[in-house]
Parts: sequence; structure tokens; C-alpha cells
Amino acid sequence: MNSNDIRDIFYTFFKNKGHYKVMSAPLVPAKDPTILFTNAGMNQFKDIFIGNESRDYKRAVSIQKCMRVSGKHNDFDEVGRTEYHHTFFEMLGNFSFGDYFKEKAIEYAWELMTDKFGFSPEDLRVSVFNEDDESYKIWEDKIGIPSKRISRLGEKDNFWQMGNTGPCGPCSEIHYDRGAEFGPDEFSGDNKRFVEVWNLVFMQYYKEESGKMNPLPSPSIDTGMGMERLTTLLSGKSSNYDTDLFRPIIEFTAKLADVNPDDKDIKIGLNVIADHVRALSFLISDGVLPSNDGRGYVLRRLLRRASKHGRSIGFKESFLYKVTPVVIEIMENTYPELGLNRKFISEVIKSEEERFERTLLSGLKRFEDIIHNTIDKGEKVLSGKDVFKLSDTYGFPVDFSIDLANEKNMKVDLEGFRAELADQQKKSRSGLAVRGVSNLPEDMDKLNSIFTGYNSLEEESSIKEIFKANSITDSISEGEEGVLIIEKTPFYGESGGQTGDTGSGRSENSLFSITDTRKNSTGGLLHYVKILKGNLTNSDIVRVKVDMSKRENIAAHHTSTHLLHAALREILGPHIKQSGSYVGPDKLRFDFTHFKSVSKDQLNGIETLINRKIRENLNVKTIETTYEDALNSGAIAIFDEKYSDKVRMLSIGEFSCELCGGTHLQQTGEIGFFKITSESSISSGIRRIEAVAGSAGYKYLETLFSRIEKIESKFNQKGERLFDFLSELDEKNRKLEKKISKQGSQEKTDFSELKSSKMEIRGLPVIIHHFEETSKKMLSTAADDIKRKYECVTIISSNEGGKSGIVISIPSNLTKKFNASTLIKQISTIVEGNGGGRPDFAQAGGNEINDPEGFMARIVELLENTK
Ligand code: SER
Repeated sequence: MNSNDIRDIFYTFFKNKGHYKVMSAPLVPAKDPTILFTNAGMNQFKDIFIGNESRDYKRAVSIQKCMRVSGKHNDFDEVGRTEYHHTFFEMLGNFSFGDYFKEKAIEYAWELMTDKFGFSPEDLRVSVFNEDDESYKIWEDKIGIPSKRISRLGEKDNFWQMGNTGPCGPCSEIHYDRGAEFGPDEFSGDNKRFVEVWNLVFMQYYKEESGKMNPLPSPSIDTGMGMERLTTLLSGKSSNYDTDLFRPIIEFTAKLADVNPDDKDIKIGLNVIADHVRALSFLISDGVLPSNDGRGYVLRRLLRRASKHGRSIGFKESFLYKVTPVVIEIMENTYPELGLNRKFISEVIKSEEERFERTLLSGLKRFEDIIHNTIDKGEKVLSGKDVFKLSDTYGFPVDFSIDLANEKNMKVDLEGFRAELADQQKKSRSGLAVRGVSNLPEDMDKLNSIFTGYNSLEEESSIKEIFKANSITDSISEGEEGVLIIEKTPFYGESGGQTGDTGSGRSENSLFSITDTRKNSTGGLLHYVKILKGNLTNSDIVRVKVDMSKRENIAAHHTSTHLLHAALREILGPHIKQSGSYVGPDKLRFDFTHFKSVSKDQLNGIETLINRKIRENLNVKTIETTYEDALNSGAIAIFDEKYSDKVRMLSIGEFSCELCGGTHLQQTGEIGFFKITSESSISSGIRRIEAVAGSAGYKYLETLFSRIEKIESKFNQKGERLFDFLSELDEKNRKLEKKISKQGSQEKTDFSELKSSKMEIRGLPVIIHHFEETSKKMLSTAADDIKRKYECVTIISSNEGGKSGIVISIPSNLTKKFNASTLIKQISTIVEGNGGGRPDFAQAGGNEINDPEGFMARIVELLENTK
């Protein structure tokens, strides 16, 4: 059985048992700040378990892309050391949302394992949570497993939780017994003879931050089975790396490096590379790009570790990008997004590998400095702090430092290193903390509203709740502000980048303005109101009206955003992914993944294409469909947006098709005109385009034209001639500036007025002078010029911005008697400043010189007394 057979059998089995097939969610979790990456099949169903969301189905089956490289479930360091830990892996799972519970979950699992996958019952062991008698009995009485093959284990092995907070519950696991040659017949979580295959979690609680466990609204099922291990067992291999999921990657890499793929000495390296290239390909295709924090940092570490192993098996230059096509070939049938992003994936990897090579070169120099400092101090252990800095700031991997230190018979203070790392991880975790969007009361989340604003802009409705200063209230009166939730509303709440509607409302006894509309987490629409006249009471019927012209402007920008997204994909390639947007009445902003800047020609092409689509007056149509059908018909979903099962699919002619809940125009012709106003980079691999459309576009042009008109009338030149005229003016100006600066510097070098200041001190020529109008910056050139002109010890000063500057320049044949660097120290104390320099040149700064004559007299005195 190969991996494709396994996926088919798994899906078919659960579909036949009434499970709805749900596609894998992206690796970047949708709006869940408690995890960095999707780490289990249940992540995308978390809100259903908690009771915050409901779907049309109560049973689901999925094969989920997962990463376990951070947080509670972290296998990062195990990869390569074992044959069955991975950073990226696929998790097969079936789920029940308040439908079946322990008995059916166990029955299904057993039937699939024995009947469909063909495991012999004698080879399987099960474990249950030690307090869970119910599961024990099901295994023993219903399934007929002899008690000697059922183990009761503690919380560490048989109680599953998603993270430090979140849904959790006792679990029961099915293990495969590899036989006597792998260890004693004593079942425990640590005995390598037994391989964990399937984890059946009986979701029952929600764990709060305080550790308190609250029961979930209804007991549910979440199961998870590692695809890679299962494939190993079912294809009769002894290591995950020998299966069809990994072996072709390993063979290809070995061939590329001209080594034997089965050579024991390089096995770990090849395994790590295969694991990491899979992770890199999937991460990049889900929109993660290398960076110095968060997800991007994990990506960077994976790439560096893979590259490092590459070096140890003989690669001299970047090679990982050559391996990605093999990963794509193995996986693209199941995950078509890989194929679509083929070029982008290898481009990102190649450029990051090359960057790493440069890092290594400069890191080596810094590493040498650390070695020398340590030796100078007479020590043999490199400080953990230094090595951490080298790895964290300069990207020089700690294992490189350890290896190189060993070569020099030295060590790295690993404890110190770990302490620094832990400190940094703590900081980066706190960066993930939930960002509060409103300080409204919690029960606000329970309120939802019916949105009628796709087709109308006015609504009459009863009131659900009024809030004033964060608490529920019966009424708000003239001059006061509050939040209003009504049964039905045409007001769009800020979401998906589109700004919230504003407008007005009235009731029998009040008039109010609606200054903003936002969404709470359960679809409630919060109207931020200010009462202009009278009293608004919660028994009132209100009539609310959206500001139509603002809504039209927003719609023009929203429809244009979709055109822009499609045009970008057409002109730059299908790797383009939206990574943020703003759709307002004034403009649109669209952030997207792209590795290079967008050239002027490309921008022109994009703009021209969009304006053509506007003139074609395409129909903008929406239909409600399922998430899966929408994706199958080619709709684009935003990778970190969370969709419920019923989605709204918006298409613009044949040109664009996206999932979108926003409000739009009906025909593209209504946009009128589209203009890109800027293109820039906002972080590595993410570009930003800003544009204007509709009447905002017209306003933009109007402003631009009136600005040009102003310039034309100022210079009395029109059209093309204006440009030539200004160019000539500019040229003339440049010439004049050059002339002036030349004259200035001639003036500067002519210090003839100083001739009379020349004196003799202790037999040497000296000029001491305070300039009234020379900037401090000019002093050093002046000092050198005077020294050369009069061949004398030169000490000059000036004031600027309330501070003084002093410069000493001494002909080198006179430095035996007067040393500039010694003198400057003494002179600078007069102005309570400090300075330094060489014997022939030194400078200092200090307080303003208020009495130049007195100051110079003190210098003379000083020189006379110098020994
Ligand atoms: N959520 C559980 C796990 O990850 C079962 O799917 O092991």
C-alpha cells in the first residue's frame, strides 16, 4: 500500500460512515493567536468544539497539513535523530461535533485498522486514560481486546490538549507492536517496540489559562493519525524515510551530491534535508516567507539546518531549491497549491540559501573574534551570550559554533546559550498575545445580527441591546455615545479589509449618527452611535440608513481590489497571495507575496489591464456555495482568513473569482477609472500597492491637474514645454551652485587676516584664533589650511548651536614640543568638554566660548607652561 492508496481508503471509509470531507486548512492558522502553525487536524474545528460556531454537518473527515515546531507540540529537535519525527506531516482524522462519542469512535477506528488496512488484531495494543473506565470497557467488552493488551496510562500519555489553553480531553491510543526484536513485551509510552499510530481524543473540556477545566457544550471526537508512520507500517518499511513520501527526495538529493543514499554516515543529513525541504515547500506555498521572527524565523531555521546538513554531505553551494520539484511531484496531486507555486517556492529558497551563504562568511569572521577574545581572557569556553548573539542576530547556527570550537579544543557554554534562547522565546511568545480589538463586555459575543446590506441601504429594526460605557443600558440620551445592536441591519461591519459603514438613524424620539460599524466574533454588528437629539430607548424601533456615497466609494475600491488581485496573478504569476488589505472610501491598499519589486512596465501592464476590464463592464456576481465547491471551481481564498462552510463566492466576468463577504458594485463599468498611486516593499517578500478608483480616482486626477496648472501658471509654460523649461532651470541652478561653492572654498583657504595673529611661543610659530562665523564642520579643514600656509602650530575654535569646537593642527616636525593630543585634553577642560586625536591633529567640543579673548589668553598661558 502506498501513501495515495492510504489517503483513498481513509476518505472512502469515513465518507461511507456519513462524514463530510473537509479540505486541509493552511499551515498558517486562521486568526488563532494561540498557535504559530496548524498543528493538528482539529485546529480548524476549534470554534465548533467550543460552541462558538456551527456547521451543517456533525461528522467530518480530513487530511490536514501540520507543523510541530513550536509551542506545546514541538518535534523540531527530534527530526533526524529518529526515523519517525517530522517537522511537517499529514494528519488523518475523523471528527464528531456532538454526534457520536467514545463507542462509535473506537468501533470505527478498529474497523478501519483491521478490516480496511489489514492490521492483525494481535499486533495492536491500546491505551486508555487511567480514570477512563468507559473506554476500557468498550475495548474489552465490545471490541473484544484481551485485557493484557489494554494499558491504563496517565495524563502525560493519555490526556490530549491543543495548547496551554483550549479544548482538551482524555484519549485512547492504538499502537502497533513491532515485535520482540525491538524490546521487551512491557507496554509503556517510552518502549520503542510499540509505535503510536492513532490517537482518539474524547473532547470534553476547555482549559482556561488559570488551569480550570470547563465542560464543552457537547462531548465530541477528534482523532489524529500520522500519515507518515501509517505509510511505513502499511508498506512494510522500517523507517518513514524509506516510504514513497520521502525516498524519492532522498535518492534525488544523494544523486545531486554524488553520494550513496544508504551510506550510514550521511543518513541523518539526508533525512533532515528531506524532512525540511517538504516543510519549506509547504510553508512557502502557504504564504510564509523567511524573516527574523515568528513563522518566518522558523522557516529560516529550517532552511539553515537543511543547508548545513547539505554542507556536511558535500554540497558546496545552494542546492535545496533543486530538490523542491521532487517534493512537488510527490505531493501536488493531493495539494495542488504546491504546483501552482512551483516557481515561487524555488525562488524564495534559492535566494534565502544564497543569503545564508553570505551570512556564514561574515559569521565566520565574527566567530574568530569571539575565539580570540576568549583566548585573550585565558578561557576555553565561549560565552553562551556571544554564541547566541552570533546565531540570533547574525544567523550563524549554534551547531557551527560548537563544531568549530571543538576543532580548536574549546567549548560553548550551552547552558548560557539555552538561557538566552529561553529568554528570547519568552519574548516572541508574548508577541503572539491576543490583540484586543474592543473593550466591550464579553457577553457582547453572544449577540448576532442579520445583515441585509448586500441589497439595501435602509432598514427598520427592533433593538437587541444598547451599551453605554461598556455596560448594558436601557437608554442613551442626547449628546451621549454608545453601541447599538439591532435585529437586522444594512450596515457592513469592518472586516476582510473593508472599512465599516457610517450613516444615520432615528427612532420615534431620537436622531443619531452612526460613526462606525464593527463585527464581533459571532457575527453581531456593533453600531457606534452618537445621539444628536432626544432619547434612544431599547424598546424603540429604529430606522437606520447607510451613507450611500461613502458606501459607493468603498464598493468601487473593493471591486477594484478583486480586479487588482486577478491582474497581479495574471501579470506576475499565480504565486501572488493576498497578505492584507484596506478597502476604504478614499483608496485601496493591497499587500501581497512577491519576491521582487514590481517593475514600471509591469505596473503599467496591471493598470492597463484593470482599466480594460472596467471598460468591458463585466458583471459582478455572487453565489452562496460550499467552501470545497468554491475552491474546486477555482475561487481564490485568502490564506489566513477563516471561512465557515457556506461561503460567498464573488466572480467578475471570467476574470476573477474569490471568496468574499464584502459589498461590491454590480458592473465593473461603475468603477469608471483605476489608478495605481504607489508600489513599495513592506517587509521581506511582501509588496504593497496603493490605488484609487471611482470618484476617489477622479478626485486624485483633479488634484494632480490643478497642481500642474499651478506650476504652469507660475512659470508661464504649458504642457511638454514646462518640462524642458524646468530642466533648463535646474541645469542653470546646478551650475550656479557649483560656482558659489567654488568661490566659497577659495574664500575659505585665504586666511590672510591671520598673518598678524602669528606669534612665537617657546621658540615655535603659533596661531591661536577664534572664528566668529565658521561652522564646527569647517574647522578641521581650516586648521590644516592655516597650518600649511603659515607652517605653525594652529589652534582654532568657533561656536555653533550653543557649543564650541576646538581643533589643533601641528606640523609634524614640531610635535616633539607641542603634542596636539595632549594639548587638546588640557584645552578642552577650559570649556568643560573633552576630545582627543593624534600628536599632529586633535579636536574637541565643549561649552560655548563666551569670552574668546580670555579663552585664547589661557591657551597661550598653557603653551608657555608646557614642558
Ligand atoms: N488532536 C489529537 C492529536 O493531535 C488527535 O487528532 O494527536
